[in-house]
Amino acid sequence: MKLIKFCVLFLFLGNTQIFANQPDSAYVFAYTTTQQHNTTGLHYAWSIDKKDWQTIGDEFRFLACDFGRWGEQKKMINPFLFQDESGLWHCLWTLNNEVGQFAHTTSADLYNWQPQSYPEVMHNGNVQDLEVLYNQSTHRYTVTWMSDINGVSKAFKTTTVDFKSYSVTQEIARNSRLNLRKTIVINGERQTGIIYKLPWSEIDALIKFCELDEFQEQQRSDNTSLDAVRFKNLQNVKAKITLQPQNSKAISDMLIGVFFEDINYAADGGLYAELIQNRGFEYTPHDKLGKYPNWNCYTAWHFSGNKNSFKIDTVNPIHPNQKHYAVVNFQKQGESFSNEGFDGIPIKEGEKYNFSVFVRKIKADNNSLIVRLIGDDGEVLAQTKLKTVNGKWKQQKTSLIAKKSCKEAKLELVAQTKGEYAFDMVSLFPEKTFKGRKNGLRADLAQAIADIHPRFVRFPGGCVTHGDGLNNMYHWNRTIGLLETRVPQRNIWNYHQSAGLGYFEYFQFCEDIGAEPLPVLPAGVPCQNSGDGGHGQQGGIPMCKMDNYVQEVLDLIEWANGDKSTRWGKLRAKAGHPDPFNLKYIGIGNEDMISAIFKERFKIIFDAVKAKYPEITVIGTVGPFCSGSDYVEGWNFATKLGVPMVDEHYYQTPGWFIHNQDFYDKYDRNKPKVYLGEYAAHLPGRPSNIETALSEALYLTSVERNADVVTMTSYAPLLAKEKHTQWNPDLIYFNNTEVKPTVGYYVQKLFGNNSGNTYIPSQIKLSNESKDVSNRIAISVVEDSNSNHFIIKLVNLLPVEVDATIDLSGFSISEHKAVLAVLKGNPTDRNSKPVESEIKISDKLKYNLPAYSFSIIKLKRQ
Ligand code: AHR
Repeated sequence: MKLIKFCVLFLFLGNTQIFANQPDSAYVFAYTTTQQHNTTGLHYAWSIDKKDWQTIGDEFRFLACDFGRWGEQKKMINPFLFQDESGLWHCLWTLNNEVGQFAHTTSADLYNWQPQSYPEVMHNGNVQDLEVLYNQSTHRYTVTWMSDINGVSKAFKTTTVDFKSYSVTQEIARNSRLNLRKTIVINGERQTGIIYKLPWSEIDALIKFCELDEFQEQQRSDNTSLDAVRFKNLQNVKAKITLQPQNSKAISDMLIGVFFEDINYAADGGLYAELIQNRGFEYTPHDKLGKYPNWNCYTAWHFSGNKNSFKIDTVNPIHPNQKHYAVVNFQKQGESFSNEGFDGIPIKEGEKYNFSVFVRKIKADNNSLIVRLIGDDGEVLAQTKLKTVNGKWKQQKTSLIAKKSCKEAKLELVAQTKGEYAFDMVSLFPEKTFKGRKNGLRADLAQAIADIHPRFVRFPGGCVTHGDGLNNMYHWNRTIGLLETRVPQRNIWNYHQSAGLGYFEYFQFCEDIGAEPLPVLPAGVPCQNSGDGGHGQQGGIPMCKMDNYVQEVLDLIEWANGDKSTRWGKLRAKAGHPDPFNLKYIGIGNEDMISAIFKERFKIIFDAVKAKYPEITVIGTVGPFCSGSDYVEGWNFATKLGVPMVDEHYYQTPGWFIHNQDFYDKYDRNKPKVYLGEYAAHLPGRPSNIETALSEALYLTSVERNADVVTMTSYAPLLAKEKHTQWNPDLIYFNNTEVKPTVGYYVQKLFGNNSGNTYIPSQIKLSNESKDVSNRIAISVVEDSNSNHFIIKLVNLLPVEVDATIDLSGFSISEHKAVLAVLKGNPTDRNSKPVESEIKISDKLKYNLPAYSFSIIKLKRQ
C-alpha cells in the first residue's frame, strides 16, 4: 500500500516526462455515459490515431452537473465542448428531458471548472443535442438544439457573445445543424462525443490531475481498521516536546462555537420546550412534499367523539399568518380532544406545566371544559378547569402540576357538557425552561450546549437558512413577535417549522450562555439543490425585489442593536429586551453556488451593510466543499470584494483530517479570515466514535495553530432527536427525557473549555519519524490570559502509547500540580467520556499519552 502511494505521489510531483517518446499532440474525446441515470459527468479519452482510445482515469469525472436536487437529478446528457478564441474551454449539456434550460460552464484547463449557469431558452419544450458555432466577424456564438414539442422534434437557436445574455429563441431549419459529434468505441462500448487535438502537455496534465485525485482518495480512505497491520510492529513512541514561547502569537479567542440548525427535530420537539405538536394546526402535506398525505392540519390531534365533529377551519383565524384552527363539536359530556405531543408528552412528578390556548366558544355552557394530562395507562396526572368566553378569540391560561412522572402522557381538553368550540395555539410548556424563560428552551438540552462554553451560536442553519426554493428562504422578521402572528413554514428537512424558537429566543439564548449571536441570512438565493418550486435550481430574489430584501437584512441589525426609539429596536424592547443585543457578526449566504446570480445579490447586500453598519463583520460563503469551483470562485470573489471573513464547509473522512493538518498553514494571512462553519469527520455508517472524535481533535490542534487566520469553528450539525434524524453524525442525540452527548461532543467541550488567546509553538522530536506515526500525534499549547492558564492539548491516534517529555522550564508555573482530562477508547467506542484528575508536574513534565486518546493538561500561571 505504502509503495503504491509513493509511486503515485512521485508521478504527480515528479518530472513531467513519463515516457521518452511522447507525442507532441494527441486527440481528446469528451463524452459522458448513460450510467447511474446520466449522472457520471464529463469523461475524457485520448488517442494518437483516433482509433485506439484510452480513457483518462477510468472514466474519471472531470465535471459534474450541479443542477437540481442531490442524486439522480444532477444529470449531464450529451456534453458539447469547444475552445474559444482566447483559449477558454466551454462545456454545454442537456440537463434532462423536461426543462427548457441547458447548462454552461468554462475552464482554462479542462479540469478546474467555473460555477455553472442554466439559461432558460424554451418555455414549452426541452433542450437536447446542443451545438455551438462561432462567427468570427460578429464575435457571436450561435447555440442550436433540438426540442421535442408535442412529439415533434424541431430545431432552435439563440445567440450570445458572453454566455450571460442570450437573444430570443428562434426556430431554425433542422438541416441547418452540423451534427458535430462523433461516435467511437472505448473499452468495447460505443460512445458519442466531441474530438479535439491537444498538445500532449495538456493531456498529460489531465492524466496527472486524475493521479492526484487517486492519491488523495487513498489518503481519504485511510482509517484505523488498517492499524492492526500497518502498526503491527510499532513500539511505544517517545516524544520530546520543546515549547517555543519566544515565537508565541495572538490567536482568536472565539474559536469554538456551535452550529444550530433546525434539522433532526432540533427545534420543535427538541430544544424548543413546547410540548404540544402541531399546536397551531398548520402542518400541511407540503411540509413533506405531499409524500405523506396523513401529515396535515390534523396531525398529532385526536377526537374521541364522532370524527366529523372535529374540523379544521380558516374563515375566522386569530391572525392571517396562522390561518388554520380546529373546530370541535363535543356532543356529550366526557368527549375529549387530545394531543399526543412529540412522541408523547414527558411529565415529571411535582413539576408545573403552563397551559395556554386561544379559544372561541361557538355554542356551549360556561366554563364547561377541563384540561388534563393523561398517563399512558389512562390515569389522570393533572387536571384543571378552563375558562371560555363567547364569540371572539380569547387566550386562556392555566397551569397543571403533575402528580406522577410519565414519559408519554397526552393532553386532553374534555367537555363537561355538550358544546362547540374553536381552538388554536394550544400550548403546554414546562415551568422549568432553561433560565426560566417564557416560551423558552428545554433545560437539559440547552445546558448541554452551554457546557461546551461556545463563544458564538450560528442560527438558523445550514440549509434551513437559504431554503428549498425562493419561497422557503428563512426570513428572520417572520419569527419574532407574538407567537400567533409568526409565520410557520415547511422545513427543508421535510417537516414543519413553527417559528416558536425564533430570533428573539435565539438571541436571548446567546445572552444566557455568554455567546455571540452569529445569524446567517440568505444571500438572496435559495439552496442550489432546491427542488421545490422554480426550476429545481438556485435562482434568486428578482432584482426588483432586492431593495426590500436588503432592507430586511439591515432591519435585523437595527432590531438587534438599535435603541428602543428605533422602529425595530422598539419591537425588541416590547418583546422584553430593552437593551441592545450588541450583534457583531452576520453571515450572508450558506454554502451557495458562486454563480453570477449569487454574486450580484451578495454584493448588493454586502455593500449596504458595510455602508450602514461598518462595525458589523460580514461573513461570506465559499461553497459546500474545501476545493472545487465554488470554493475557488468564492475565495476569489470574497477577496476581491474585501469581505472580512468567509464561511468554509467540509465534511471529510478521518483520513482527510489526518493528512490535511497543514491545510491552513498555507493560507494567505492578508486575505479574508476563515470561519470553519460546518465540519465533521464521517466514516461509512456515519458513527460518532473515538476514531472520528480523535481525528477532529487532531485537526482542531492544527486549527488552533492557525487561529490567527481561522477565527471561528463550529461542528455540524448540533442536535438530533432519536427516530427523527435526517443527518448523522450529530453532536448531541436526545429523546424526550434523555440527552446523549457523543464522543465528538466531548472533544468540542474540551476545546471550548480550554481555549486561549495566545498560541505557543512547540517542536516535537519523535523516536519514530515515519509520516504514518508523526501524522497521528499532535500537540497544541495555548495561554489563556483571562483565566491565567497554560493549556497543553495532546492527541494520539496511534494504537500504542506515546511517552512524552515536555520541557516547561521556560514557563512560570504557580503550582506543582495540574488538571488532566483524558478522553480515550478503542476506535469504534461510542460511549467514552473524559476523565479528570489532578497530576503532579515538574519542569520536565513526563506524560504518557494513552493509545487512541486526547489529553488536556491545564496549568496555572504564576
Ligand atoms: O449540517 C447539515 C447540512 O450540511 C447543512 O444544512 C448544510 O449547510 C450542509 O450541507
